[in-house]
Amino acid sequence: MTAGVVAEAPAKVNLRLRILAREASGYHGLESLFAAISLADTVEVREGAPGIRLAVGGGVDTGPPDDNLVVRAARRFHRALGTAPALDVALTKRIPSAAGLGGGSSDAAATLRALNALHGEPFGRAGLLRMAAELGSDVPFFLCGSTLALGWGRGERLLALPPLPSRPVLVAHPGIAMPTGDAFRRVAERRGAEGAPEAFAFGLDRLGGWSGVSSLAENDFEEVAFERVPVLAAAKEAMRAAGAEISLLAGSGASLFGVFPSTEARDQAGARVGALGLATWTAQTLESEPPLRVDPSRGIG
Ligand code: C5P
Repeated sequence: MTAGVVAEAPAKVNLRLRILAREASGYHGLESLFAAISLADTVEVREGAPGIRLAVGGGVDTGPPDDNLVVRAARRFHRALGTAPALDVALTKRIPSAAGLGGGSSDAAATLRALNALHGEPFGRAGLLRMAAELGSDVPFFLCGSTLALGWGRGERLLALPPLPSRPVLVAHPGIAMPTGDAFRRVAERRGAEGAPEAFAFGLDRLGGWSGVSSLAENDFEEVAFERVPVLAAAKEAMRAAGAEISLLAGSGASLFGVFPSTEARDQAGARVGALGLATWTAQTLESEPPLRVDPSRGIG
């Protein structure tokens, strides 16, 4: 009998994303407020023949399997464990790729969690977080234990926060990719001598409720993204008109999300944004990390 563990890999949105100064490494510092949402991929890991076989379903293009963060996460985990992998991995994609929603990063985090369970929890959270930071800047958030966190550095330094009550969310995508490096370059060019904003220039008490968080909602990539893809600005306005408390670009784009006071307002926004030609997904913010499921048909004990 082959053991299997299933992990949900939720998408993230940045309720706030400020780009700080460029550091010696060439990377920019970030100030980010991450929130996990219910739009999720599924990762299933199962013991198999030697090697790592990845099967991708769900109709979202994820590129070559060898570059997939799921495979890189599995390799990294087994290097830490000191054993050769013998795995079958099934990834069901629902989160659009390269959309600013952290899909690949979340898949990697879910892989680490699932493999840790499959092997009897050899690593604590700190060990998994170290592996996560090596895999990518957005990966640690999905292992921080909360669905809301303040991030800095490249986004890998985290303060887990008490989650806020779940709110309906709309995600919209214009079907255009926006390369991250390009977006950083454009923002830096535009700023010129004006320079980067001051970090964390707000009271942390504003993170304790949706009204405070709404007042902090900002994304420094918006201006350049809206200039390149003007329909995003129209979609943001449509979400606002339907009652969104927050409506922002997700990460460096190109998707957009809204947080709504009710499902009625969210669905009204969905109709308006759909009429502009964007693909839409409904979701909600998460109040807790999705639990791992042991696949009973495969009898793991
Ligand atoms: O993280 P990733 O390799 O996808 O980033 C692509 C490019 O975006 C980097 O090479 C860098 O130019 C820019 N970047 C940055 N600051 C960050 C993250 C990315 O300047 N925090």
